[in-house]
Amino acid sequence: MTAKSVNKVAIIGAGFVGATTAYTLMLSGLIPEIVLIDINKDKSEGEVMDLNHGMPFIRPEKVYAGTYNDCKEADIVIITAGANQKQGETRLDLVNRNAKIFKDIIGNVTQFNNHCILLVVANPVDILTYLAYKLSGFPKQKVIGSGTVLDSARFRYAISEHVGIDTRNIHGYIIGEHGDSEVPTWSVTNISGVPLDEYFKANHPDSGKELPKDDIFNQVKNAAYEIIQKKGATYYGVALAVRRIVEAIVRNESSILSVSSYLDGQYGLRDLCLSVPTIVNSDGIKRIVDIPINNEELALLQNSGKALKNIIDQLDI
Ligand code: 2OP
Repeated sequence: MTAKSVNKVAIIGAGFVGATTAYTLMLSGLIPEIVLIDINKDKSEGEVMDLNHGMPFIRPEKVYAGTYNDCKEADIVIITAGANQKQGETRLDLVNRNAKIFKDIIGNVTQFNNHCILLVVANPVDILTYLAYKLSGFPKQKVIGSGTVLDSARFRYAISEHVGIDTRNIHGYIIGEHGDSEVPTWSVTNISGVPLDEYFKANHPDSGKELPKDDIFNQVKNAAYEIIQKKGATYYGVALAVRRIVEAIVRNESSILSVSSYLDGQYGLRDLCLSVPTIVNSDGIKRIVDIPINNEELALLQNSGKALKNIIDQLDI
């Protein structure tokens, strides 16, 4: 792998997610230059001051508050700006508010930069990733949504709690909408190649019961609602998910991540964005991977696609 020289990342939105993403990328040492842009200049300037005071403790990087003009040389533009879910709201409830904000953001970014990778994080991320693709006119491989990368991490973490294995050795994905219609791919989830059910039975015979799959999946699907109810917003997990996606781009890793991207026929889905395992490298989306999910999971994935398509078809693009 020859690492692509990503020298600059712009983050649009200095709220919880944007500021935590800036902090996480700063600690990663992956990015020499990070510009934080927000409609509220005091906010972006305050966040950047706070971040820079930690610079003596890490390798030097250039971190500053800027304007859209500073998107000019960015290799990756991460879009976190927008309203976030309030208690009891679904991610799709945000669509009208955030679609409007998004149109301005994409227009402002592309005014200064038409070669970057757009990494969409704001919710509803699948709808906004589709909007970013359509409005920017960028090639589809350059428009990525954080999608269910965080959900897949939550899935692997929840399973690890039951099997006592390093989450990095639990291979499984949440696919579809980053939201209520997401789908667990139980049939292809494995631990070092051993199908999960087999592994659990062979290594937890005393448990006398099956892995509590419904509980695990509900824990994953409802994680954000629970966290928002307890602390008002989520940001650490999603910022680390974004860091992982950026790392795959910066280091040209060809990593398989369940990012959201534009589908034109894969899994029988067309003209929408949602998450399925996808190879991510320095060009953005290298290729969508066709995994052997079973018929039930495929039907649920197509259902998820339908739910998103219904929203997309009402968008005024
Ligand atoms: C999350 O899943 C709210 O989409 C955000 O944490």
